[in-house]
Order: sequence, then C-alpha cells, then structure tokens
Amino acid sequence: MRRKLIAGNWKMNFTSEEEVTNFMVNLVPGMLADVLVCPPSIWLYMLKNSNCFIGAQDVSPHALGAHTGDIAASQLKAMGCKYVIVGHSERRTDHNETDELVKQKAQAVIDAGMIAIICVGETLAQRELGITEEVVTTQVFRSVPENATPANTVIAYEPVWAIGTGKNATPDDAQAMHKIVRAQIAKQLSQGTADSMRILYGGSMKPANAAGLLAMPDIDGGLIGGASLLVDDFNSIIDMVQ
Ligand code: PGA
Repeated sequence: MRRKLIAGNWKMNFTSEEEVTNFMVNLVPGMLADVLVCPPSIWLYMLKNSNCFIGAQDVSPHALGAHTGDIAASQLKAMGCKYVIVGHSERRTDHNETDELVKQKAQAVIDAGMIAIICVGETLAQRELGITEEVVTTQVFRSVPENATPANTVIAYEPVWAIGTGKNATPDDAQAMHKIVRAQIAKQLSQGTADSMRILYGGSMKPANAAGLLAMPDIDGGLIGGASLLVDDFNSIIDMVQ
C-alpha cells in the first residue's frame, strides 16, 4: 500500500513571517496522507516544529564549502527537512538544469538521509510531437539514481504545459503516464521498487480536480503549486485523500 503524499510547493511566494504563520496555523494535515510543505528556504526555520513534513525546493549537488548562494543537503537536513524537490521544470528551464545535475542533486538528498522528489514532465511542444513517453522515460532513466528506493525517492510527473496554467492533465491521461513511469522504474530498478515507489501528479491540481486525479490507481499524491498558497484549498485537497 502506497501512502499518499500531498505536497505543497510554495515556489517564490510569501514575503512576511505573518503570511507564513497565517498559513501554518490554519493548516490541517489530517491522518490519511503524508502532508508536506516546501517553502522558500528562508522560511524553513519557521516551519521547523510544525505539524507536517517540511521540504526544500532545491539543493546544491555539492557538499559543504565554497559554493556561494547554494544550500547543502546536510544544511537542509539540519533545518528539519525530510524531503527535497529536485529537477522541477522551472529549475530545468530557468537554470538550465540537466538530467545529470538533477541526478547528482537527488543523490545528495539521498546521501543526507532525506527523500528526493524527482520531477519529470514533457513540454507542450513535445506532447504535440507525440514524444511524451520517450521524453519522460528518458528523464526518469537519466535523473533517478541507481540506489533509489521507495524509502528515499518519490517521482513527480508534472507535464510542463499544465504547471501554473490552470490546465490539468485529465485523470486518464495522467494515469497513463504514471503507469509508464512506474514501468520505467521497474525496468531500470526492480518491479518491487516500482510497486512501492510513490508517483505524484503535479500541474494545476486544485480542489476542483484533485479527487478525480487522486482516485487513479497509479497517482499517489500531488505536487501542488498555486493551490498550495491558499490554505483552505490545500486543506480541502488533503481532505480528499481517502
Ligand atoms: P501548479 O504548480 O499547481 O501551480 O501548476 C505545480 C508545480 O509546479 O509543482
């Protein structure tokens, strides 16, 4: 049985302690899912003793040392992080992150004893060219470390055309891709690993569509951007996990 994970990715939002506090005091994690909030790193200290898991949105591939502006996995761990998102499409695009770098970051997260959430997903142009499956399985092949297990790794399938656009993949389309990702994990790691590894859907998940997506057999939770900024919306998605 894969326990569902409802993960909020605040991205680069919230500019005051007051906004963060207001969100956190109203968050109701419930009992049926693992609930994760990934704030901008500057706010991690405020979430340290909260009633949900906390995570970071990125990590340095390097250990401690002379890497100005970077944050090491061991530092995120020390701040209470349990999860770290790596390879989000916004980082792949804004910072030219390659699958090879994403894999190094995932490895740093795993080595530090945390759980890597490795993001993959096709662009609209790739979908229209009919190469979605090839693009996504290649990203999984190149980004997921050989020692990934269900205990140290989560995959997030996030079609780029659905992120922040209000357009989500239909439950059937998302399910089909999750099945393909799971089959790829079985091929490159093992069937047992694939059966137990959680695969999240991300891309305009919101209260209006979350129940349908979360009901699909291979969708093990959500990586939620916009709807994770409104605590009522985030709570209601958490509530949909049965
Ligand atoms: P969105 O973002 O829910 O705003 O589409 C999802 C994500 O980028 O993780």
